Amino acid sequence: MSPRSLVGARPRSRRRNGDGAPALRVFVTATDTGVGKTQVASALLSLLADAGLSPAPFKPYESGCSRLSRPADALELRVAARSTDPLDRVCVHRFRAPLAPGVAAARLGRVPDFRAVLAAYRSFGDRPLVAEGAGGLLVPLDPRRDVIDLIEALALPVVLVARAGLGTLNHTGLSLELLATRSIPVRAVVLSRGSPARDPSIEDNAAWLSRRHGVLVLGPVPYIADPARRRWAFREVVRPLLNAPAPH
Ligand SMILES: Nc1ncnc2c1ncn2[C@@H]1O[C@H](COP(=O)(O)OP(=O)(O)OP(=O)(O)O)[C@@H](O)[C@H]1O
Ligand SMILES: [Mg+2]
Repeated sequence: MSPRSLVGARPRSRRRNGDGAPALRVFVTATDTGVGKTQVASALLSLLADAGLSPAPFKPYESGCSRLSRPADALELRVAARSTDPLDRVCVHRFRAPLAPGVAAARLGRVPDFRAVLAAYRSFGDRPLVAEGAGGLLVPLDPRRDVIDLIEALALPVVLVARAGLGTLNHTGLSLELLATRSIPVRAVVLSRGSPARDPSIEDNAAWLSRRHGVLVLGPVPYIADPARRRWAFREVVRPLLNAPAPH
């Protein structure tokens, strides 16, 4: 059975922004772990919440939880969305080990229930929604599925977060090529500077990625140590996604 068929047909109507554009529903993934997915997802959710659209935060798999009752990314997304959605639906599977979710589960002799993730996703109905993956596209979620299989099953377009500096032409290109093989639409690549170190590649990377792959590239978000200023910068960089036309 294809993962897509588990969720069923894409609903015909979605809630709309004030200007009539379809409300945003995206899956935020990245070229790697620790690149800025939570920052981007939180920025999008807070902008949607500001617009009064009651967005749903979704972080279905989270590992590295020092307390299973307090999954840090899921809680950050829920705060950004100003959501009261039950944490069990926002974050279905949680693991203490700082490992890929599928690897953490295997060490416990468990197989995380994929159908529970799909049921949680369906429970959000047609609200605007921002999902955050775990690590990058080929991170295992269970013995059969990687993050990219979840994206395909949810039939959501992707926002791909990538490092701004040296190496990103290769890592971002690899991720975009893989998404293209599954015909998964990409709304944008968001570049972020995770380090203040000087890097002469940064000035060219956005233009190269945009030309090579025909994709909207946002950023780079500069390196900003202060969390409040950093949140503001991410919001400004991703703001164009709120009103951009859907890819299909
Ligand atoms: N532009 C930036 N300036 C300063 N710090 C940044 C910037 N972008 C990301 N970071 C830092 O990098 C770290 C990782 O960011 P974030 O948690 O959003 O990554 P992630 O992709 O969600 O990671 P994970 O795979 O663990 O979920 C955070 O501590 C964040 O503050
Ligand atoms: Mg995260």
